[in-house]
Amino acid sequence: MKRLCIVLVLLVCIPTLLNGRERKEYDGDVLYDEAKLPHYDLPPLLITAEGKTVSTPDEWRNVRRPQILSLFSNIVYGRVPTPESPIRTEYEILKTDPDFMNGKATRKDVKIRFENDKGKAEMTILVFVPNGATKPVPAFMKHSFNNTKSRDFDVHPTRAGFIRNGWPLGEFFARGYAFIAVYQQDLVGHNEVSFGRGIAPLFYTKGQSFPKAHEWGTLTIVSWGAMRALDYLETDDAVDAKRVAIMGHSKMGKATLWTAAQDERFALAISAQSGCAGAALWRRKSGETLQKMVTRFPYWLSRNAWKFVNQEDDLPVDQHMMLALMAPRPVYVASGVEDTWADGRGEYLSAYHASEVYRLLGKKGLTSEDSPQVGKAIIESDIGYHIREGGHSVELYDWQRFMDFADYHLK
Ligand code: GCU
Repeated sequence: MKRLCIVLVLLVCIPTLLNGRERKEYDGDVLYDEAKLPHYDLPPLLITAEGKTVSTPDEWRNVRRPQILSLFSNIVYGRVPTPESPIRTEYEILKTDPDFMNGKATRKDVKIRFENDKGKAEMTILVFVPNGATKPVPAFMKHSFNNTKSRDFDVHPTRAGFIRNGWPLGEFFARGYAFIAVYQQDLVGHNEVSFGRGIAPLFYTKGQSFPKAHEWGTLTIVSWGAMRALDYLETDDAVDAKRVAIMGHSKMGKATLWTAAQDERFALAISAQSGCAGAALWRRKSGETLQKMVTRFPYWLSRNAWKFVNQEDDLPVDQHMMLALMAPRPVYVASGVEDTWADGRGEYLSAYHASEVYRLLGKKGLTSEDSPQVGKAIIESDIGYHIREGGHSVELYDWQRFMDFADYHLK
């Protein structure tokens, strides 16, 4: 009997202990202790490469912003190459369901085809538009881990207002938003080296079979796909393409920030636990580092980024500069207390330091260097932020704060 009790107690406790565990994908050689982090100086946002202080919005827009964008393109994520042969793009509405979620919305499956002399590629985006709107509606676009050709986007069989993958689309429709899903693996494979398939070959020059060191890695390719999805939305009367918020979690949070940094047509960006190569500062080296990233996922960034492994202090940028590329558009950063691998504190500090540019542009940034209280979201600011209890996921709490932030800024 005693033994049975012990077994029962273990059966109940072990999963609970595991669930509550901090996300530490590596221990030992990974820093998590705030007291042990290295000293660092961030590269200045408002001093140009020529050493001149930026003191006006025009100098930011015309001089400093292009410099920073070019650095991220050439040495961090890799730039979009220029194709030798023009790419033709074609849209096809594969199917339309005006009765999605018991008539709350219309779902359109849209195929986007790309073709030039070098080859072909295609992506399938899903566009959900609330029914009954009298004018074009604002929208959320999500960089999705779920395949848009799968059943993950069917209505949830028992949870009203949700789709199978757990996204609360019903609440988006109720708040008047369209929702667009773009699948990360349509144009490039995930972790394996697959630049021979997908969109990359359409951009190769003669004899080329792999992106050059300064050319796009996976995250830039994913971001390019979202830009093409926005091109499509500009042709769709149901959606207001000038009010599209882009959002993503984790790897897709990284892609989200980079998409909106490059393409200023995106009105707002939301990063959920994007961590390393997303919102978190490289120089803190807390949780995942550049070294961990490029050894586990060599092609997410450009190959030029490899040169800075364990040399983060030599990088002419840090991620506060990427958030600043969003300015003056609203940006929201979300962290989780137990998601230490993504360095929630580093994500906050990045947002805090980016605030300098927002203030220069007459916008409202973060004013305190201290992270806010857990579960207390900062919404009424051009840089929003929350850190909540729990780990690496997107919870209803997160979704609702994202919608609150968009309600505040886009409506
Ligand atoms: C790994 C990776 C992270 C990434 C995450 C994800 O944890 O190290 O950088 O954000 O996968 O995409 O889920």
